Amino acid sequence: MRLSVIGCGYLGAVHAAAMVSIGHEVVGVDVDAGKIESLSRGEAPFFEPGLPEILTEAIATGRLRFTTEIAEAAGAEVHFVAVGTPQQKDGSAADLTYVDAAVDALLPHLTAGAVVAGKSTVPVGTAATLAERVATAGATLVWNPEFLREGFAVKDTIDPDRLVVGVPFHDGSATAEGERAADMLREVYHPSVAQGTPFIVTDHATAELVKVAANAFLATKISFINAMAEIAEVTGADVTTLADAIGHDVRIGRRFLGAGIGFGGGCLPKDIRAFSARAEELGRGESVAFLREVDAINMRRRDRAVDLVVAALGGSVFKKNVTVLGAAFKPFSDDTRDSPALDVAVRLFGLGAWVTITDPEAIPNARALHPQLNYVDDRDEALRSADAVIVVTEWDQYRRELSPEHAGSLVNRRVIIDGRNCLDAAAWRADGWAYYGMGRP
Ligand code: UGA
Repeated sequence: MRLSVIGCGYLGAVHAAAMVSIGHEVVGVDVDAGKIESLSRGEAPFFEPGLPEILTEAIATGRLRFTTEIAEAAGAEVHFVAVGTPQQKDGSAADLTYVDAAVDALLPHLTAGAVVAGKSTVPVGTAATLAERVATAGATLVWNPEFLREGFAVKDTIDPDRLVVGVPFHDGSATAEGERAADMLREVYHPSVAQGTPFIVTDHATAELVKVAANAFLATKISFINAMAEIAEVTGADVTTLADAIGHDVRIGRRFLGAGIGFGGGCLPKDIRAFSARAEELGRGESVAFLREVDAINMRRRDRAVDLVVAALGGSVFKKNVTVLGAAFKPFSDDTRDSPALDVAVRLFGLGAWVTITDPEAIPNARALHPQLNYVDDRDEALRSADAVIVVTEWDQYRRELSPEHAGSLVNRRVIIDGRNCLDAAAWRADGWAYYGMGRP
C-alpha cells in the first residue's frame, strides 16, 4: 500500500521504516529539514536499537523517502499522523498544536476514500473534532494508538501485542465507512493480523482512552511498588523480595514492579498529567484523582535517592565527589526527557556536590539540558576518586559488567547507592562497600 507518515520524530521515524519492512511504500514528512536530511541518509536522529538497520534497508528498497513537502503525501491510501503532543508549557494538559497543524496541512492533499490514522497520544475527544475536518475532504479518520516502548520500538511496531483502531461509530457499531477504514488498517498490518495478533475495532473515544489508560496503569503499578518501598523503609522490609513474592500471583505479575527512583521519559509523566487535566475538563477529575498521588509518589523517590546520598556521606554532599551512573530515563535509550536519573544528578549538584555523570548513550542530550554538570564518557574515568557512587539508570555496563572489586579500585570511598535496585547487595557488601538500596534494608 502507499502510506504517508506525518511527523518523523521518534514514533514517526520508527513507524515509517517498520511499514516499509512489512512491504509498504512510505513517504515520511516533517517540517524539520535537519531531521529529514539525516533520515534520508539512513541516520536516526536518536538512539534506538535496530532502527539504523531497518532504516538503511528500507531506503535501499526505494520504497521509503523523506521530505519536508506535505504535498508529496498526496496519493497515499493511509496517512499516519505521528506528531508529538508534549505537555503545555503553562499547565499539565497536552499541547495539540502539532496535531492540529499536521491535519490542517494534510487536508488539501487528501483524496476521497483516504484514511487518516492518528497515532499521537491525545486527550479523549480529540478524534471526534478532527474527524469532522477530515470528512470535509471525503476521507475517514481513525485512531490507532501506539504502544511501543523506547529501546524495543522496532520489535513493538513490527510485532505489536495488540492493535487498536478507533473508527466512526453510530448506535454502538462501526459505520460502513468505519468498517472500510478498519479493513484498510487490517491490510496495513497484514503480517500481525495473519498471525492472530488481537485487532480491536472500537469507537474513537475508546481508542484514545486505551492509550492513556494503559500508560496510567503502568505508572500506577510503578508508584504502587514505590509506595511499598516507602513503607519498607520504615519497617526494615525488603521491597524487592516483596515484589518477587506478590509478582508470582499471575493476577499481579512481576513486570513493572521495579522499585527505585521511579518513572520518567517523554510518555508516562506527561500522559498521566494530561489525563488528569482532561478528566477535570470532563467533570470527572475525582475519577483519576489517584493519578496525582501516583505522580507525587514518583517525585518523592527522587528526593529519597538524594537523601540517601546525603546520609551516606555523613549529612552533606558539599564539595564531595559524587559519581552518577546513568542519565537516560531508562536503559537502551538516549532520551533524557523528564529523566529521574538526570534530575537526581541536578539536585545533588544543587546541594554543592562535585557531580560527575556518565552514560553510554545519553550524554549529548543530557549536556544540552544541563550543561553545568561534568560529563565523562568513560565509566571508569567517571568512577575515579568518587566519595559516593549512585546508579540511576540500570545499563548493563553498571548492573552486570561492573564488579565491586574493580569499582573499589577506582573510588575514594566504597559507598554505593542503588537507585534502581539492580545490584547484588550481598556481593557489594562482601567487598567492603556501604550499599544503600531503595526500599531495602
Ligand atoms: C511507555 C509505555 O511502556 C509504552 O507502552 C508506551 O507506548 C510509551 O510509554 C508511549 O506512550 O509512547 P517508555 O516511555 O518507552 O514506554 O518507557 P517504559 O519502559 O514504560 O518505562 C518508563 C519509565 O518507568 C522509565 O523511567 C523506567 O525506568 C521506569 N520503570 C519501569 C520503573 O521505574 N520501574 C519499572 O518496574 C518499570
